[in-house]
Amino acid sequence: MIARIQELLEEVEHLQASNAEEVEALRIKYLSKKGCINALMADFRNVPADQKKEVGMKINELKDKAQQKIAALKEAAETKDSTADDLDLTRTPYPIALGTRHPLTIVKNEIVDIFSRLGFTLAEGPEVEDDWHVYSSMNFADDHPARDMQDTFFIEAHPDIVLRSHTSSVQARVMERMQPPIRVICPGRVYRNEAISARAHCFFHQVEGLYIDKNVSFTDLKQVLLLFAQEMFGKGTQIRLRPSYFPFTEPSAEMDISCNICGGKGCSFCKHTGWVEILGCGMVDPAVLEANGIDSKTYTGYAFGMGIERITNLKYQVKDLRMFSENDTRFLEEFQAAN
Ligand code: DAH
Repeated sequence: MIARIQELLEEVEHLQASNAEEVEALRIKYLSKKGCINALMADFRNVPADQKKEVGMKINELKDKAQQKIAALKEAAETKDSTADDLDLTRTPYPIALGTRHPLTIVKNEIVDIFSRLGFTLAEGPEVEDDWHVYSSMNFADDHPARDMQDTFFIEAHPDIVLRSHTSSVQARVMERMQPPIRVICPGRVYRNEAISARAHCFFHQVEGLYIDKNVSFTDLKQVLLLFAQEMFGKGTQIRLRPSYFPFTEPSAEMDISCNICGGKGCSFCKHTGWVEILGCGMVDPAVLEANGIDSKTYTGYAFGMGIERITNLKYQVKDLRMFSENDTRFLEEFQAAN
């Protein structure tokens, strides 16, 4: 009997299992009611009295060892199973919620896309700009009241440095780098010191366009803007140009499109006129060309600038400008399909 117990002790010492089922099989074999240790217990009564103490202690030792070993194997199998689970590379993807593009990004991409098809390339400039690029190079005289129109943010201690109040500054950035033909589209963020409300914000987004070459005319401008309006808002969209004033263009105009919310019949969005203003434009003032190193006797050009929020409102009827910067995912997720 002692020899049999010794044999089992050795056997238990070397037990192995690679998963939970194998551990369970071992438990049944050694520790269950019908297991071999219980069988030894049953034989115990046949052990001669003088050996009972020694055999009894050995059986207890065997039982302890078996319990410890099987518990250790069980724990090892469980941790192994769970790590194997984490690393299952064949598992189907989790339903991970994807983000959505911001509505302003969607519309900006669409605007850039339309002008790219017409041969415009992207240009960018800094948001923290100097007075020269934002104003002086754009033909704003030092004491010109139009500077006040723009509610500029100045950088404290650097009165010459501002947060750009329009993307027209990128026109100057482009002209100082290259000679005509120039055909660029410049999207970006701009800043104005305005009280924040549903209809105004201290930052918003614009897209600037600039085309300079020989013989560029107002007709070219009008045709490109008509094409843009119809691509953006549908084939039936009409445009109208009203005379206006900007320091950097001469002549200058503002462009309205037939209201795409009411189809031109009149609604609260178009204040019952059937028309909504979407951009400013004009022929680049020769003084701007000269200030930026381009010969105004050889070249002419047109420029235009529009607010991306305004175009987005027209397309998606977002009533409150603040929605664009509040990061409310319920609002942003509404644009999932538009991606
Ligand atoms: N910079 C003007 C603004 O912020 C928009 C603008 C008007 C841009 C006419 C132009 C333009 O390029 O020709 O209101």
